Amino acid sequence: MKLSPFVFVLTAATVAAAGPVTKAVAVLSPTQGSTASGKVVFTKVEGGVKVSVSLTGLKEGPHGFHIHEFGDCSAPDATSAGGHFNPGGEPHAGPKDAHRHTGDLGNIEANKDGVATAEYVDAGVSFEGATAVLGRGVIVHEKADDLKTQPTGAAGGRVACGVVGAAKGE
Ligand code: CU
Ligand code: ZN
Repeated sequence: MKLSPFVFVLTAATVAAAGPVTKAVAVLSPTQGSTASGKVVFTKVEGGVKVSVSLTGLKEGPHGFHIHEFGDCSAPDATSAGGHFNPGGEPHAGPKDAHRHTGDLGNIEANKDGVATAEYVDAGVSFEGATAVLGRGVIVHEKADDLKTQPTGAAGGRVACGVVGAAKGE
């Protein structure tokens, strides 16, 4: 049997729809006793991944902001998300450091209304290979990450948690 051009078109469309993921979103929910929530969008761009943060319900000031190993927010304090996502076996550091946990996104700053918004490109995370963020956890902490204390940055408890899931590309 010869395949008609019609069949070929349908097949091509199916392949395109299942193409590589270029956008992902984590919807963050408050941990027990917290009011912090919001979302973080990851978009594949030239040179890395654009990270777009919009959160509310935070205490004013800087908050440690990381990707953790597991996309598991089931524990009331989000400890189920594990430690910082660290596929390279590196020390804890800041987002601009050459040697850092892949998940070391640094800090996000909340204003006096408890709102934190940010948009920047991170060169350490990706959508494929060992440093891929899909399925990992995003955690916002109670306190600032000092970018040096091992292995957590001394950022304190976890106030919000979300799982990075594939989103519809742009
Ligand atoms: Cu963290
Ligand atoms: Zn770290």
